[in-house]
Amino acid sequence: MAIEKEVKRRRTFAIISHPDAGKTTMTEKLLLYGGAIHQAGSVKARKASTHATSDWMEIEKQRGISVTSSVMQFEYNNYCINILDTPGHQDFSEDTYRTLCAADAAVMLIDGAKGVEPQTIKLFKVCRLRHIPIFTFINKMDRASKPPLELIDEIEKVLGIKSYVMNWPIGIHGDFQGVYNRLSRQVELYRKGQDHGAKKAQITVADLNDEQLVATIGENYCSELRQDIELLDEVGEEFEQSRIDQGLLTPLYFGSAITNFGVETFLQSFLELAPSPQPKMSSAGMIEPNSPEFSAFVFKIQANMNPGHRDRIAFMRICSGQFTPNMEVKLQRNGKILRIVQPQQFMAQEHKSVTEAYAGDIIGVFDPGNYRIADTLTEKNRNFTFGDIPVFPAEHFARISPKDSMKRKAFVSGMEQLAQEGAIQIYKEYGIGTETYICGVVGILQLDVLEVRLQNEYNVAINRQLLNYHIAGWVDRSQEAVDLDELNLTSTTMKVLDQDEQPVLLFESNWAQNWALEKNPGLKLLSIREKH
Ligand code: G4P
Repeated sequence: MAIEKEVKRRRTFAIISHPDAGKTTMTEKLLLYGGAIHQAGSVKARKASTHATSDWMEIEKQRGISVTSSVMQFEYNNYCINILDTPGHQDFSEDTYRTLCAADAAVMLIDGAKGVEPQTIKLFKVCRLRHIPIFTFINKMDRASKPPLELIDEIEKVLGIKSYVMNWPIGIHGDFQGVYNRLSRQVELYRKGQDHGAKKAQITVADLNDEQLVATIGENYCSELRQDIELLDEVGEEFEQSRIDQGLLTPLYFGSAITNFGVETFLQSFLELAPSPQPKMSSAGMIEPNSPEFSAFVFKIQANMNPGHRDRIAFMRICSGQFTPNMEVKLQRNGKILRIVQPQQFMAQEHKSVTEAYAGDIIGVFDPGNYRIADTLTEKNRNFTFGDIPVFPAEHFARISPKDSMKRKAFVSGMEQLAQEGAIQIYKEYGIGTETYICGVVGILQLDVLEVRLQNEYNVAINRQLLNYHIAGWVDRSQEAVDLDELNLTSTTMKVLDQDEQPVLLFESNWAQNWALEKNPGLKLLSIREKH
C-alpha cells in the first residue's frame, strides 16, 4: 500500500526548449514553489559557478547551451517531483533521448516572441518517439509576443500536435495584463513584482463579469477577451485526457517565468494532468510500478562530475518496487549481484543520500565501472530486461589520435570511458592498433566536448581529422559468415570494428553502400538501431 501511495504522488518529467527560452529560469521557479530553494537566483548562480570551474562548461557558456543533464527532486502539495534536465542543443539530442527514456512527461518551453525554434523542433521529435504527454508553456509574456492564435497554429503546423488552451493571455504587445484561466473561468491579474520574481507571486483573481475587472484593466481588454474566449470555446480543441496521455494533444499555458506569473498555476495543473509512473514493458511482460519487487534501468552514465575526483555516476530510473540502502540487486547483463551503497539523489543545491526511493525516482550510484547505459537491475531472483535504449546513427566521423604518443594509455582510457558514457561512438580501424580511433557522433559539437574533456580530465591533447563518411553499416553475422578480407568495396569504404569487436563498414554515400551490397551477395548490413 505504501508503494502504491508513493508511486501515485510521483511526477517525473523533462523540460525541453531552444536555448534562451527560459528553461533555467523556469526550473528555478519550480524549485522556488517547491520550497527547494528560497530565493530565485540559486540555480542561475550554480550555472555560473560551474562555468568558472571547468573549461568543458566553457563550451556551454560560449554557445549558450546546456551540455550536461542533471536531475532534481522536490516536493509540492504532497507531490514528489523529479525534474530531468536535458541538453538544449540538437547536437546532444541523443543524450536528450536517453534522458527522455527516464521521463514520464515533457514540458516544452517556448519563447512567446520567437515561437517554435529549430531546437524545439528537434527535441520535440525526440519526445514524439517516446509517445509521452507533452505540456506547453509559452514564456516571456511580460514582453511583446506573437499573437496566441498564431503560436497555436505554428505548433500545430510545424510540430504536428494540437493544443488545448488552458489559459489565455490578455495584452500581448508588451502590455501584459494577466491570463484568463479556462478551468476556473477567472482572470488572474499580472502585477509586475518589485523583486523580479525572487519570491512567490501573489496572484489576484477576478471574475470575467466583475465590474472591478473592467475598472482595473479597461473595457477594451475585457471585450477583446470575451470575444477570444467565445472563439476558443467554439472552435478550439476539446479537452481529452486520453489524447493528452498519448501525446496527441498538448495542454497549453501562457506565463512569464521570470516574474513567476503563471508558474504556480501551471505547476498545479500539470501535476493533476501529467501521469504518475506507468507500467513498463520488459522481456517478462509488463512490470507494474506498484509491484513490491525492485527494478530499474540505467539511462545515463557520467564520469568526472567533480573534476577533483575520478568519479563516475550511473543514473538509474526506478521502474518498480522500493529501493532501500545497501540492497543487493542483480545486473541482468552479466548476472552479477551488486550492493547499491550510498546512492545519491540530487536536490536543487546539494546531493543527499537516498534512504528510500520508488518508481519514478532517479538515483545516482557511484560506479567503479559496473554499469552500462540501458542495463537492467532487478531483484536477485528475477530474470528480465527492459530492452535497449536505441542509439542514434552517427552522422559525422573523425579520426582521433593523441598528439603525444606517450599519452596513449590515458588516451585509450579516456576514449573508452567517453564511449561508455554514450558521449561518442568509437571504432578501431580494421587491422590497425588503438593508436588512433575513428569516432562517430550525431552532432559535430560532441567532438568539441570530446576534445575539451580529454584535455581536462585525462590531460591528453588530440589531433582530429574529419572524415568524409556519413553512413555506418554493421555487418550482419547472424546468418552467413562474411570474410571481411574478401569484401569487394569502393576504394574509399572503410572497414572498422566497434567497441564489441563487431565489424562495421563506413560509407561516404548511399551509392557506395549500394555498391557493397550489389558486389557482395550474402552481405547484409544493419543500421545501429537494428543492431541494438
Ligand atoms: P535557458 O536556460 O533556456 O537558456 O534560458 P534562461 O533561463 O537562462 O533565460 C534566458 C534569458 O531569458 C535570461 O535573460 C532570462 O532572464 C530571460 N527570461 C527567462 N524567462 C523570462 C520571462 O518570463 N520574461 C522575460 N522578459 N525574460 C525571461 P538574460 O538576459 O540572458 O540573463 P539574465 O541577465 O536575466 O540572467
